[in-house]
Amino acid sequence: MDQAKKIGILTSGGDSPGMNAAVVSVARCVMRKGLKLMGIKRGYNGLLGLSENPGDDIEYLDPETVLDIMDMRGTYLRTARCPAFLNPDVRKKAADDLREQGIEALVVIGGDGSYHGALELCRLGIPCIGIPGTIDNDLSYTEATLGYDTAVNVCVEAVRSIRATSRSHDRPAVVQVMGRNCGDIAMRTAIATGAEMVIVPEMEWDLQEVADRLSFLIKKGNTRATLIISEHCWHKMKPFDWRKVIADNNYIIHDDDPLTAERLALTLKLLSHTEARATVIGYTQRGAIPSAYDSAFAFEAGRMAVDLLSGDTSSFEHGFAIGVHDGRVYSTPFADALDENKPKYFDEELYHLINSL
Ligand code: ADP
Ligand code: F6P
Ligand code: MG
Repeated sequence: MDQAKKIGILTSGGDSPGMNAAVVSVARCVMRKGLKLMGIKRGYNGLLGLSENPGDDIEYLDPETVLDIMDMRGTYLRTARCPAFLNPDVRKKAADDLREQGIEALVVIGGDGSYHGALELCRLGIPCIGIPGTIDNDLSYTEATLGYDTAVNVCVEAVRSIRATSRSHDRPAVVQVMGRNCGDIAMRTAIATGAEMVIVPEMEWDLQEVADRLSFLIKKGNTRATLIISEHCWHKMKPFDWRKVIADNNYIIHDDDPLTAERLALTLKLLSHTEARATVIGYTQRGAIPSAYDSAFAFEAGRMAVDLLSGDTSSFEHGFAIGVHDGRVYSTPFADALDENKPKYFDEELYHLINSL
């Protein structure tokens, strides 16, 4: 940048472990260059009222504050989903207000939705850098997103404990993990724990087949198998009347009750005659302390963000997203990071291997 005095930073979308570490890294690198870092609160929501009440939504990140942030879980800056930012007039006003506040560039830590918002701001003349802060690992341009490694570690730890109790009681387990439409957390958790089955949103699946596999495993002597399911796998289930299985066994079920981990475990219990139990891991995946990998990735990403913003930003109309390629941190234009013609890689062979070992 032609010597920007102030850089803004915000976190957007679901919180993810490592967001704070990335803010700290950007803050340290910004200070080293003699610039100022302004934290913007609650994602793009913090840009909506900048001209009216800047003090409410914007905070100078001084060295003292930055030291505190490093040890915090969640995101110090808070995060939000901001539907109003889909409106071009709202974005135009936000860009004008940022300029009025002397904020000449922005670091956006978030997922693909947040990147779309950042790209629009670039087009309005605010140079933006994206750091992929989401546990989902659902961005095709990067081998890792910030928080994914931590989320997997949380799930692995949980599944190891669940498998111990499963073994003690000879009970199979259904464990639901997050990931939105991406099965990476589920797949990685499954291979790291030796889980016998995995269901992901990328692949069609058949409940009867899962029950048959469970019955087969039990017959072979494995009375404590683990099924890892990704939260949004339901829409990929082949038609199967699981409600009838539940109703025929005198459990209460209504026509509009959705399939859940709990109901899947009950259906498997009834079909495979085994005491299957369900656990939903939930927000422990998002509120965890970042792993060493995520903390180091955050450091490198923050450093690259500041390097890019302190260089020549005259060609920034497409912005840049930071990612990992061949194990190294790199940057690529938002348009490339969001390119729908580059679908996220899914390892189908690995999926079939997990479900057949
Ligand atoms: P994530 O960034 O984790 O993918 P969301 O999809 O919820 O999370 O997006 C976060 C925010 O990014 C949205 O609430 C909205 O403010 C902004 N956003 C999403 N899509 C767009 C878009 N197409 N144009 C502008 N802003 C967007
Ligand atoms: O994007 C992160 C994520 O945790 C997804 O895995 C999940 O689908 C979604 O956010 C849940 O969002 P919320 O916490 O707003 O329900
Ligand atoms: Mg997203």
